[in-house]
Amino acid sequence: MAKNKTVFFCKLCGFESAKWVGQCPGCKEWDTFAEEPVLKKSSKPAGIKNTREPELLSNIKTESELRIHSGIEELDRVLGGGIVTGSLVLVGGDPGIGKSTLLLQMCREIVGKSKKVLYISGEESLSQIKMRAERLGVFNGELLLLCETNLELIEETIHKYNPDIVVIDSIQTMSRDEISAAPGSVSQVREVTSALMQIAKGFGITVFIIGHVTKEGVVAGPRVLEHMVDTVLYFEGDNYAAYRVLRAVKNRFGSTNEIGVFEMQGTGLVEVKNPSEFMLKGRPEGEPGSVVAASIEGTRPILIELQALVCRTNFNMPRRTAAGTDYNRVNLLMAVLEKRAGIQLSDYDAYVNVAGGMRITEPALDLAVITAILSSYKNVALDNKTVLFGEVGLTGEIRAVNMAEQRVAEASKMGFEVCILPQANKEHIKVPGIKLIGVKNIQEVMGMLKR
Ligand code: TYD
Ligand code: MG
Repeated sequence: MAKNKTVFFCKLCGFESAKWVGQCPGCKEWDTFAEEPVLKKSSKPAGIKNTREPELLSNIKTESELRIHSGIEELDRVLGGGIVTGSLVLVGGDPGIGKSTLLLQMCREIVGKSKKVLYISGEESLSQIKMRAERLGVFNGELLLLCETNLELIEETIHKYNPDIVVIDSIQTMSRDEISAAPGSVSQVREVTSALMQIAKGFGITVFIIGHVTKEGVVAGPRVLEHMVDTVLYFEGDNYAAYRVLRAVKNRFGSTNEIGVFEMQGTGLVEVKNPSEFMLKGRPEGEPGSVVAASIEGTRPILIELQALVCRTNFNMPRRTAAGTDYNRVNLLMAVLEKRAGIQLSDYDAYVNVAGGMRITEPALDLAVITAILSSYKNVALDNKTVLFGEVGLTGEIRAVNMAEQRVAEASKMGFEVCILPQANKEHIKVPGIKLIGVKNIQEVMGMLKR
């Protein structure tokens, strides 16, 4: 009798190998390989008819006809202007971050527009979903709910009810009978996703897939299916902060830089229309080491508070930490300060933190990092109504950044009176009501932090 063949898969990226390897050649992570049985190739892919006629180009619907507005502005923006009919969208994130809540809220909005929505849960019972729905408010329409994990039965239900939108919560609980691997294994996750793709593309049904991000454990991460789907959204946030950021990391129908900001409240997720105000809440006034930076996320300017604490070290090696921004970048900027501004920072510990738990890595934050470190080192506070942005080069020069006008406009809108920015940007900006100070190098910035 022939032995059942098995292969090894990387649980993170899906790399396939005939034998076990310690480090994945695909994503270079260690100890991610797991053994799984080889798939039986099924004779026909699920749910697709073989008789297809070519279509006239002029008869095919245009983009505006194909988009459904979800009613949640922050979600629509991240999707590139609404939900595209027949697309396959993956919503990934840590367990408990609010993925089910977000999609149930989306369903609530869409059933109100008399669209047919089918929510399939493999994680919660019908009464648990009902309890959650009751917290979210009144549904102005009927939502179809199904608790099922067997893909064949799910396909039958979809064909029977023919909904406009299907939500699968979550991909890690779904399985196909003919594959012997456990639910959540790489082969199950892949097969189920490809079957869902047939449903989306073949019948024009939009499918949202929820996927838990896990590094450890037995379930395959959403990265395995990133390349199969049209759009990948990640829902992220600090476990200790109430706000959540929805970020597009792949989008066939729009830009990938956009973010949506939400706050988790007792009645579900509430859109944060003005993230700057949210991020600056509770900011200390006139404290050394705290500055406000104008940053850009996607096409949206966001003001954030950047804090630094510089104090004498008790060890031979000074400690450095960077929360919410790039650690290596902070080290580099401190080296620039040592060399170009002549400040002996090697005897000092430095802690840099983007307040509010937001993660920002753009170089336009450099000037704020440098100024916050200088401000804490000299124990001199920067003026309370001052905002800054600019990239710092290795010779200590302040370089121009993109979208400077939008940054200044946001600062002015939020009531700031002075903006310190690269000299090269200053010349092109006309925003009334805010004083612009152009700087060329970090020595000029140091001059502003005199007592
Ligand atoms: P959930 O959507 O179940 O997360 P996921 O599907 O990503 O695992 O969100 C669970 C968390 O959200 C839970 O800790 C409770 C919290 N929550 C609220 O704070 N308010 C609410 O109205 C709801 C529905 C959930
Ligand atoms: Mg959930």
